Amino acid sequence: MPGFTLFPSTAKLLPMEQHTPSAIAPSPVGTTPSLKTLVGKLELANPVMTASGTCGYADEYADFAPLSQLGAFVTKSISRQPRLGNESYRVVETRAGMLNAIGLANIGLERFVKEKVPRLAAMNIPAIVNVPGWSIEDYVDVAAYLDEHVPVVRGIELNVSCPNVKNGLSFGTDPLRLGELVAAVRKRVQRTVLIVKLSPNVADIAITAKAAIDAGADALSLVNTFTAMAIDIETQKPVLANETGGLSGPAIKPIAVFMVNRVYRQVAAKNHIPIIAMGGVQTWQDAAEFILAGASAVAVGTALFVNPAVHVDICRGLSAYMARKGLTQIADLVGRCGTPKTPN
Ligand SMILES: Cc1cc2nc3c(=O)[nH]c(=O)nc-3n(C[C@H](O)[C@H](O)[C@H](O)COP(=O)(O)O)c2cc1C
Repeated sequence: MPGFTLFPSTAKLLPMEQHTPSAIAPSPVGTTPSLKTLVGKLELANPVMTASGTCGYADEYADFAPLSQLGAFVTKSISRQPRLGNESYRVVETRAGMLNAIGLANIGLERFVKEKVPRLAAMNIPAIVNVPGWSIEDYVDVAAYLDEHVPVVRGIELNVSCPNVKNGLSFGTDPLRLGELVAAVRKRVQRTVLIVKLSPNVADIAITAKAAIDAGADALSLVNTFTAMAIDIETQKPVLANETGGLSGPAIKPIAVFMVNRVYRQVAAKNHIPIIAMGGVQTWQDAAEFILAGASAVAVGTALFVNPAVHVDICRGLSAYMARKGLTQIADLVGRCGTPKTPN
């Protein structure tokens, strides 16, 4: 993408020491930290995965990055029927990230299983399929098929930011509808880990997080993109054909860190529900910050447009950081930035 100039991480302005409690006990000298982490019953070799929609179906990136060094691969959204998506422009660079309105373009479930699953299987890492839908049946059909028939798929991530065709609201902004959706999918998904990807476009993300957990989610991922807009001052029209899009990248990171920490403190920790965090992760410092906020794993999206192999640097940096802090496992870091100030 010509002229793509994402802002560097703000980690330099806020050294990790300022976030990290001094009380972490050092591990025995010479111990190599383990990057293994758990997302429900799914064990990952490391906590770094792709964010849905930013690494295609894997084959597009295979020549540019050692994808088998990811903790898991998350596909773009796969719907029951193929979708062309929105007209262009579908993507626009912003000062510290990007706006997209791809419109969930994808080849549909049938072609995905025939053409893309063999490549995912060859990667030898867990594959997580992101599933969109416009009715409860859409989600249930795709999730149940993958759970029953596609062994390489180890996790289903429900993208609940799609508009519901029946009432126009997205499932992700209405806790009641979200609960109904997750409960319906839960009944049909047994083998794979059921992850609900939360929308940040709500007044309090802890409320939708609780609805997803109460309805049976095994894990939560957050955040999806923030609804936003860019206007071309010469044409005096919105830049994106869809008019609005979703903002991602470094611009959203501090808000995403806050939301992850809020969900962790309010509902996830006490229910032992792991969080996959995303929103502006570019460096190992960003990943460490999200894990300290409460995440058990992180996903990288927009940063892949700058460096498709960034996960390798993130893992290396996390490992060195843990060794420096005397930590032996990721679990020692999860949520270390603080405990709730008020009882929940
Ligand atoms: C180009 C693009 C396409 C995306 N497509 C999807 C998608 O198909 N499904 C989905 O759940 N999220 C999608 N997302 C959202 C990302 O998975 C992620 O939640 C968001 O971008 C925040 O992470 P980041 O700041 O690291 O990019 C997309 C994001 C981008 C930038």
